[in-house]
Amino acid sequence: MSAQPPYETLSWKSPAGASPFEELRGGRLTLIDQTRLPAEFLLMTCKTSEDVWRAIKQLSVRGAPAIGIAAAYGVCLGIQPLFAGANRPTRGDLIAAVEKTAAYLATSRPTAVNLFWALDRMKARAAAMPDAESDRIAAALMSEAKTIHDEDRLLCRRIGRFGANLIKDGDTLLTHCNAGALATADYGTALGVFYAAQEAGKKISVYADETRPLLQGARLTAWELAAHGIDVTLICDSMAAMLMRRKKIDAVFVGADRIAANGDVANKIGTYSVAVAARAHGVPFYVAAPFSTFDLTLSDGSQIPIEQRDPEEIRRGFGRQTAPDGIKIYNPAFDVTPAELVSGIVTEKGVITPVDAGEIRRFIQTE
Ligand code: MRU
Repeated sequence: MSAQPPYETLSWKSPAGASPFEELRGGRLTLIDQTRLPAEFLLMTCKTSEDVWRAIKQLSVRGAPAIGIAAAYGVCLGIQPLFAGANRPTRGDLIAAVEKTAAYLATSRPTAVNLFWALDRMKARAAAMPDAESDRIAAALMSEAKTIHDEDRLLCRRIGRFGANLIKDGDTLLTHCNAGALATADYGTALGVFYAAQEAGKKISVYADETRPLLQGARLTAWELAAHGIDVTLICDSMAAMLMRRKKIDAVFVGADRIAANGDVANKIGTYSVAVAARAHGVPFYVAAPFSTFDLTLSDGSQIPIEQRDPEEIRRGFGRQTAPDGIKIYNPAFDVTPAELVSGIVTEKGVITPVDAGEIRRFIQTE
């Protein structure tokens, strides 16, 4: 993988020309280790499902779609040892290993629904082959993980094209966190909209919120947009409202980790404040996300599980002590933006607007 775009956030390395079964048996998952950016562009290799779990938990791979893709490959790594020897596992043993690995990977992070969506797809693929031998099921699981990965490349470009129609030549845009190539297979959702606008010949500039406390905006979005040749300016999170008041922002685009049936959107902590500021200043606030980020089992955003992260991320972010020992720290990784603050949700099938339960149901069910 190269540090220059287009780069892949993750890739499955396996013997060239191998059958899907051989690909699974000899393959490894390679990731860009996002914890090292922007100082270093380093790859890490996951050889086991435990490696994938750790990579997700410690944010080496992060962003809702990328987490889902990594987890799908994690299932392949979880069943790999069953095929190491000369003997093949029984179908029952294989299904049990798939279920166990999926349940384990599901404990890595709670908020991004793409993780559970991808694991459910893997389990369903195995369950749909009741009469098959374990080799064939393993091959099908490898194909399914690759399909989830390939589909994401396609979806992001579709989202990009629909979202680019909302942008005018000369616009200045704001984004929060990183919903770019690093958060997906390779193009991004919210940042994919910017890439598509640029590819369509529109001149744009972007303000990137630094995104406290782990600085995905500073470390990842600023790096990624600059690498794509987009005019990007980094700001502290607390500066966005002031820029809106000064009429410096034409629209906001962010990604999402989970969208409830009524259109409430969970995304990186701080997104809600941006949406409130946007509404107060008459700035359109758009969310870009694929259908796999919708969770129609939840009627509203109050039911979305919000990840609480280690207080040390705030007390000693990046190794330097910035808060007293022993002080109480509250560190939710996400917040929920109510649907009424969202001007539209840009999906792979078009823009959902107005954002409400009826329109979302109609949009998703008729596609
Ligand atoms: O904690 P992170 O870095 O995984 O949070 C990521 C976000 O909140 C992204 O905005 C979201 O996953 C959308 S990615 C296309």
